[in-house]
Amino acid sequence: MKLHGIAGGILLIASGLAGCAGFNGESAASASDKTYTLSWAESGRVSKRSLDELEALGSRQMSSHYFDRAMQYSNSRFRSISFDALLKQFPSGSADAVLLNCFDDYQGLISIEDIGRYRLELATKIYLAPGVEPPHWLNPLLILVPDGVDAPFQERFMTANIRELRFVKLEHYYAPLNRVVEDYPATAQGLKKFKDNCVYCHSVKGVGGNKGGSLFQKFDFSKGADRENFKEQFLGFHHKDNADKQNLEQFVDDLGLGEIAGFLQKLAL
Ligand code: HEC
Repeated sequence: MKLHGIAGGILLIASGLAGCAGFNGESAASASDKTYTLSWAESGRVSKRSLDELEALGSRQMSSHYFDRAMQYSNSRFRSISFDALLKQFPSGSADAVLLNCFDDYQGLISIEDIGRYRLELATKIYLAPGVEPPHWLNPLLILVPDGVDAPFQERFMTANIRELRFVKLEHYYAPLNRVVEDYPATAQGLKKFKDNCVYCHSVKGVGGNKGGSLFQKFDFSKGADRENFKEQFLGFHHKDNADKQNLEQFVDDLGLGEIAGFLQKLAL
C-alpha cells in the first residue's frame, strides 16, 4: 500500500481536535485528503465522496467493544457515520451486498441486510489510546460494530482501509465458491467460515482479496499431510501476537479450521 502523504498514516493529535475533547495527545488515523468511491457493479455507475462530504451526512463519536476485543485494545474512540444512512442516499438497484475494496489488497463484503441488522457504522477517524502502535492497515474507512449490538465475532466486521464501496449481488460474487456446496453439501460449514474470515485476503477461484496470497499455491489440499501443515502454518502465523494484528485464530477454532481445509480440498478438485 502507498500512503498518500501524512493523512494516510497515523497523526499525533497535539491539540484542538474539534469535537473530540478528551482525546488530545492520542494517536488518530485520518484520511482527509482521500476520496472514496461508490460504484455499482450492475450499471457501471461511479460516484466520489471526500471524507468531509461523508461526515456531512451526520457524524458522531463512538466506541466499539467489538473492535477493542478483536484488536486487544481498550478505550478506542471513533468519529463515524451510519453505514445504513449512507447507503440510503443511493439507489442500490438489485444489489444485496456491498463489496469493500481497500487501499491494501484486502476485499471485504457485507450484506445490506447485515448493515441494517447490526447497525454498522463507518469510521471516518480513529483515535487510539496513548501508547498504542497501530498496524499500518488501520485507517478509515473502517467498519464498526456499535456497542450494544450482538454481531457474530468474525473477521467480516473488521474491514479497514476501505477506498471503494461497490454494490454487488451476493449470488454473483460467491458463485464460484457456492458451486462446491451443491456437489458436496458437507462442505457448507467450511465454506461459511472461509467466507466469514479468510476470503478477504486469500482469494480463491478469482474471488476475494490478495493480501495474504494464494493458499492453493502453498498447499496441495488433496494430501492429508498438506491439510495438517495448513493448520499448523495458520496457527503459526495468525495467532494473537501476530505483529501486524492479523489475529485470525480468535475467530476460528480447531474444528472450524478442519472444516475450512475440507472445503478447500473439494474446491481444488
Ligand atoms: C487480513 C488478511 C488476512 C486474513 C483475513 C487471513 N489471512 Fe491468512 N495470511 C495473511 C498474510 C498476510 C499471511 C502471510 C503470507 C506470507 O507470509 O506470504 C497469511 C498466512 C496464512 C497462512 C500460512 C501460509 C502462508 O501463506 O504463509 C495460512 C495457512 C493462512 N494464512 C490461512 C488463513 C485462513 C484459514 C484464514 C481465515 C480463517 C486467513 N488466513 C485469513 C493474511 C490474511
